[in-house]
Amino acid sequence: MIRAYVLDAYGTLFDVQSVSAVTDAAFPGHGEIITQVWRMKQLEYSWLCSLMGDYQDFWSVTRRALTYTLGILGLQPSERLFDDIAEAYNRLTPYSDAAEALAGLTGVRRAILSNGSPAMLQALVGNSPLAPFIEDTISVDPKRCFKPDPRAYELVEERLGVKPGEVMFVSSNGFDIAGAKRFGFNVARISRVPQADLAAELAGTGPLSASAFYRALRTQEEALGYPPDIVVTSLSELAAPPTQGGGREPISAAPR
Ligand code: LAC
Repeated sequence: MIRAYVLDAYGTLFDVQSVSAVTDAAFPGHGEIITQVWRMKQLEYSWLCSLMGDYQDFWSVTRRALTYTLGILGLQPSERLFDDIAEAYNRLTPYSDAAEALAGLTGVRRAILSNGSPAMLQALVGNSPLAPFIEDTISVDPKRCFKPDPRAYELVEERLGVKPGEVMFVSSNGFDIAGAKRFGFNVARISRVPQADLAAELAGTGPLSASAFYRALRTQEEALGYPPDIVVTSLSELAAPPTQGGGREPISAAPR
């Protein structure tokens, strides 16, 4: 029985692509490449820091990834402009399906588990329309490692008191889906980028955009042997009629 829905933040509830308004205003014409490389490096750095045993919180990782990105492009922002661009990660736009979907998940615990630092998540979630529907915003920070390290996922039971088998973990990020499934959660994948559309775009004859390259690498299901239990194309598909006893059955859409 599912007792808790635990959702990833970046890319799942909040659109990381929404930083492009800020990156493009800062460096017109470079917005797309900054947005895509920045996000790819941010994730890479989180994994590198974990593997090197040199944890730095996600704010540090996010800023260092931005330093790398602007550096390879030969762009030299003032300190103030750099700070303004970095801050865009604390003001991401929630996906349009997020608030209504969370509101519909009644009778279960609702929480976020994110690599974001506590301060980032407070800024991001605290002032968003999602806040009233989130009981607990859990940062991996106390574990000093990032998802998909199993220690990060252990926080859910520690904070919510629910067993992994009682959790429906929801993410759009392939690495997070694989990690959560390997850990023992029930996993729902929110497909933000339809595979067929992406395949058609990648098969096109025109030059490959940075955005398409990002979507090819980061938005699809990994081939590591840990597929999600269900796939939804809108978070609103997560809500299912409560079962007797007040909990929820895990499968509500597209059983695999
Ligand atoms: C999160 C990012 C990494 O943990 O998607 O919210």
